Amino acid sequence: MIVLPEKATKPTMYFIGVTTTKSSIMKLFPYWMEILGVDAVIKGIDLPIHADPEDYRAVVSFIKNDPLSMGALVTTHKIDIFNAASDLFEYLDPYAEMFGEMSSISKKDGRLEGFAKDPITSGLALDSFLPAGWWDNGGDAFILGAGGSAISVGSYILKQAKLPRRLVVSNRSQGRLTNIEKMFRDIRPEANMEFYLAPEAVDNDRVLSTLHPNSLVINATGLGKDRPGSPLTDNCVFPFNAYVWEFNYRGDLRFMYQALEQKNEKNLHVEDGWIYFLHGWTQVIAEVFHLNFTKDQFDAIERKSAEVCGR
Ligand SMILES: NC(=O)c1ccc[n+]([C@@H]2O[C@H](COP(=O)([O-])OP(=O)(O)OC[C@H]3O[C@@H](n4cnc5c(N)ncnc54)[C@H](OP(=O)(O)O)[C@@H]3O)[C@@H](O)[C@H]2O)c1
Repeated sequence: MIVLPEKATKPTMYFIGVTTTKSSIMKLFPYWMEILGVDAVIKGIDLPIHADPEDYRAVVSFIKNDPLSMGALVTTHKIDIFNAASDLFEYLDPYAEMFGEMSSISKKDGRLEGFAKDPITSGLALDSFLPAGWWDNGGDAFILGAGGSAISVGSYILKQAKLPRRLVVSNRSQGRLTNIEKMFRDIRPEANMEFYLAPEAVDNDRVLSTLHPNSLVINATGLGKDRPGSPLTDNCVFPFNAYVWEFNYRGDLRFMYQALEQKNEKNLHVEDGWIYFLHGWTQVIAEVFHLNFTKDQFDAIERKSAEVCGR
């Protein structure tokens, strides 16, 4: 049974994850609050992957009933927390309802609110590096993983006017693969999509080998952070001139290093999850503290964060 935090004695935002103390947000949050003029602290709540539903309910009930607990950002547990505790919320935004996940918990006018911010933040992050009109080059999009963030980035891609040649998804187990296929086919029935069960890394290598040049390859499995390793083997071969996006910016990042090893030979553009991290957190903080971020504030946060984290 989870040990809940002490009752908050000043405005507190929580970070619900797996290894929260290792996240840069713990270091950055005080600087960000100074830039935003908000007097608040952050605390981590760690839960194992696919934790007991009763633990998710206990955490949500605690935040709901503790006056100075203002809200939370949820990572990794986005689908599980939705499944276990969505009935405790008075409001769920349309994305949370549609995708059955939530990354933001906040309170407004006595209501507990849940938002799925990832469809917005993963899109903001993707647009920060993928050139406009990229899909005119005839590449595929391959998302490894079918969890909350895979759903988000895939739905963002499917809502754009121009589509990749194919949207390909692989997942380790069938349940989530079936789920994501249904959602994606509902969003854009005419899109060319393929879904692969990939219990072993060699299965993902095989799918990777079918991609066209100019593709986008995304590691949304959490392997390389939540668990060590990569969803690909070291024998994998990336397509030429691809964008390779590792969703995380910390951990062993094996997938990212596999791409970096082929960077010159294959002319790869390799991104980590840093910009995604900044957009993800700022969008949820805006909801939790009811702020309207200006571009100047976001830029100041980006600069300060890069300085503090030595990027
Ligand atoms: N930079 C950022 O700000 C940012 C933002 C969002 C997410 N992320 C990161 O992105 C990762 C994914 O997040 P999430 O919320 O989507 O996690 P999640 O819900 O745990 O989803 C991970 C999915 O990957 C699948 N998977 C695991 N190993 C695999 C493999 N070898 N091959 C294929 N599929 C595999 C899992 O399969 P099962 O169905 O079998 O469990 C699961 O469906 C996390 O590490 C998270 O920290 C980073």
